[in-house]
Amino acid sequence: MASSTLISGTEAWADLKSHVEDIKKTHLRDLLSDAGRCQSMTVEHDGILLDYSRQQATLETLEKLFKLSEVASLKNKINRMYSGERINSTENRAVLHVALRASRDAVIKSEGTNVVPDVWKVLDKIQEFSERVRSGSWVGATGKALKDVIAVGIGGSFLGPLFVHTALQTDPEAIEYARGRQLRFLANVDPIDVARNITGLNPETTLVVVVSKTFTTAETMLNARTLREWILSSLGPSAVAKHMVAVSTNLTLVEKFGIDPNNAFAFWDWVGGRYSVCSAVGVLPLSLQYGFSVIEKFLKGASSIDQHFYSAPFEKNIPVLLGLLSMWNVSFLGYPARAILPYSQALEKLAPHIQQVSMESNGKGVSIDGVLLPFEAGEIDFGEPGTNGQHSFYQLIHQGRVIPCDFIGVVKSQQPVYLKGEVVSNHDELMSNFFAQPDALAYGKTPEQLQKENVPQHLVPHKTFSGNRPSVSLLLPSLNAYNIGQLLAIYEHRVAVEGFIWGINSFDQWGVELGKSLATQVRKQLNASRTKGEPVQGFNLSTTNMLTKYLEASSD
Ligand code: F6P
Repeated sequence: MASSTLISGTEAWADLKSHVEDIKKTHLRDLLSDAGRCQSMTVEHDGILLDYSRQQATLETLEKLFKLSEVASLKNKINRMYSGERINSTENRAVLHVALRASRDAVIKSEGTNVVPDVWKVLDKIQEFSERVRSGSWVGATGKALKDVIAVGIGGSFLGPLFVHTALQTDPEAIEYARGRQLRFLANVDPIDVARNITGLNPETTLVVVVSKTFTTAETMLNARTLREWILSSLGPSAVAKHMVAVSTNLTLVEKFGIDPNNAFAFWDWVGGRYSVCSAVGVLPLSLQYGFSVIEKFLKGASSIDQHFYSAPFEKNIPVLLGLLSMWNVSFLGYPARAILPYSQALEKLAPHIQQVSMESNGKGVSIDGVLLPFEAGEIDFGEPGTNGQHSFYQLIHQGRVIPCDFIGVVKSQQPVYLKGEVVSNHDELMSNFFAQPDALAYGKTPEQLQKENVPQHLVPHKTFSGNRPSVSLLLPSLNAYNIGQLLAIYEHRVAVEGFIWGINSFDQWGVELGKSLATQVRKQLNASRTKGEPVQGFNLSTTNMLTKYLEASSD
């Protein structure tokens, strides 16, 4: 396929388009009665089971999707990513987050240079520093050990680490290592978030980790200045050296801010913000909380999926299958959203993280060559842990719009509970729902079934479930650091697969810039009005009115 040809202009795409009619004639009830099909629609890798038999797809669909992946040069694009080519062409950068979790002896090159030794130099530095802090040999300005950490960052410098932290919080091994320590995240520029973060913490025993790839993000820098003030005002200016460290690619700005470059942990422009949780962005705060040995297991889990993604044939490749099927749902079956439904409270921050990974990566309107897309790329991700979501938005998923769902279950709970006299354990109760919901969505309930149950006629339409609603199920053996790493990498690579097929750049994010620059204009106006009494000008009538009202009502 010539680089300027859109994937939607290929025969393989047209073939899938015409296949949609056949699929729409089938019902998941019938597809699921084919044992051979179900059997071949499961894949197992390193303890993880994927079942995609509840997709509106036949084996023929799969063949056509593989054909499309061939036409889109999927394998070649994956290889180019792993070999450090500058596939993020609008920013002229390589995309090498896989190198962040590669083993010490691996060779992953960018521009001919193996980047793995640099990665491990930083990991070693993190291990050494986190051990000093955790053991109390690194002390604060008043000689006290630092037992609490506030990580200041937003977007990719926040959501991934928060997801992993939340997932580890109830892991028995991680609990042991975290005893007596707290990790908090300050992301929002809202002063309420500052207040919530510092409440109950003592600057004397707190370490602030400023996390920003660019070290220019307005929210993060303001929050960093605010916490610097919090420390300075009670401990004096020299305390910064002991109480503030940084993670960034921009070490010049770190130093300018007043943080000792020796206390800075680097990463590289070939790590995208939303793909940075395995860099110092996540590894530093998480190692401070849980110890490096636990976080190293998380990296190993991600690395296991990296190798699988790179080498497994597409028919057995979990991220490839998930990516192709998501793309099938969005671009061919016309389902623009996806619900991420982990049946584990520990995964409550998975959906917010994947929202950024997926929507910032694939929410694009043009191809990688800048050609307007004649189809809509990207999908709307949202989700909540089960069973909470069942009592919230599942009504819509069952009887309203069709939303393909990701069900994620865990075999062994982090926190098993068995109540005497109960029929099943608390975890079995949770998992009963994990197994039931995909079938409820797939099979639905017919008017005939309802009539047999003597449901009054006037209620039959209300109690009918059309079914035929697709989902995938992922079953993890447990939820330790390793499994959390696996899950993260599965989602990261799935997003890349979709983007590679759509022919977009999944690694830039120009769409976030316009709002930022307009906020700069507003910020200037607010300053000019408050300090010099200047009237609001240069905005449309609506914004002028609202700004004027805001200024009037908030001036003392
Ligand atoms: O505004 C979006 C964004 O650029 C994200 O892509 C990024 O993860 C986030 O801001 C934070 O950026 P930084 O790490 O440079 O502060």
